[in-house]
Amino acid sequence: MNAPVNPNKALWEKGDFTRIAATMRESGETLVEKLGITKGMQVLDLGCGDGTTALPEAKLGADVLGIDIARNLVEAGNRRAAEHGLTNIKFQQGDASNLEQVPDKSFDLVVSIFGAMFAPKPFEVAKEMVRVTRPGGRIVMGNWIPNDPTFVAQLLKISSNYTPPPPEGFVSPMTWGVESNVIERFAAAGVSKENISFARDTFTFNFPGTPSAYVDEFRKYYGPTMNAFEAAEKNGRAAQLQKELEELFTSQNKSQNATMIPATFLLVTVAV
Ligand SMILES: C[S@@+](CC[C@H](N)C(=O)[O-])C[C@H]1O[C@@H](n2cnc3c(N)ncnc32)[C@H](O)[C@@H]1O
Repeated sequence: MNAPVNPNKALWEKGDFTRIAATMRESGETLVEKLGITKGMQVLDLGCGDGTTALPEAKLGADVLGIDIARNLVEAGNRRAAEHGLTNIKFQQGDASNLEQVPDKSFDLVVSIFGAMFAPKPFEVAKEMVRVTRPGGRIVMGNWIPNDPTFVAQLLKISSNYTPPPPEGFVSPMTWGVESNVIERFAAAGVSKENISFARDTFTFNFPGTPSAYVDEFRKYYGPTMNAFEAAEKNGRAAQLQKELEELFTSQNKSQNATMIPATFLLVTVAV
């Protein structure tokens, strides 16, 4: 018998997220520079992808473990670490909803930038992040914000309009971008509201081609957009989806000769 498909894993192993991550590196580095990382700090990067923030954390001298559900991204992360000559970082497969391979109180800092928000069972995710953080440590999450007018929230909204409805009981990842949900989830994990702070920040996507060429990257390589196009192709709506995305990417582009698109996100800091 084949193992049942985990749709969360299948979504992110689909395509090749490294193609999108390649357009996110500068903002990843800028964000990490603000985290107060010092040499020897124990850092967990959860939903790390191919290491957009994990590699900069290691370059600042932290001992980094990157955990991601997608096998191909873990492999890409380990490859990138070797290419950069980093020996203080390793990537392994795991699920943010159940970090069974990670002992309690192992990390000074748990970072999850647009990562753990995509795991199912958000209350389990909050509990696991708190469990593996040592008392006195911190959790930092970057979460996209539902209905925000900027890039990623709109991209995911448009994509979901073309994708079949999720199964009953599915909790949208975007709920992590609402402060009251974040407070409720960490409260259930034993963290009081006073220990959680929120800020708005911006991540900029840089692509060395036109906005329509960038849409093509998402169509070919980004799981949520690939799924939307697959569904749209079945009912003759693919051209409409393409047009909506080209309008979005073009209207948000700030560059004259390439593509540069800023996106607002919620930065959550939790003192454990
Ligand atoms: C939008 S990407 C962000 C990746 C990376 N943090 C970055 O900023 O480039 C979302 C990542 O979360 C990972 N992910 C999704 N669900 C997960 C889960 N349940 N446990 C661990 N990682 C997960 C995906 O495989 C993917 O690498």
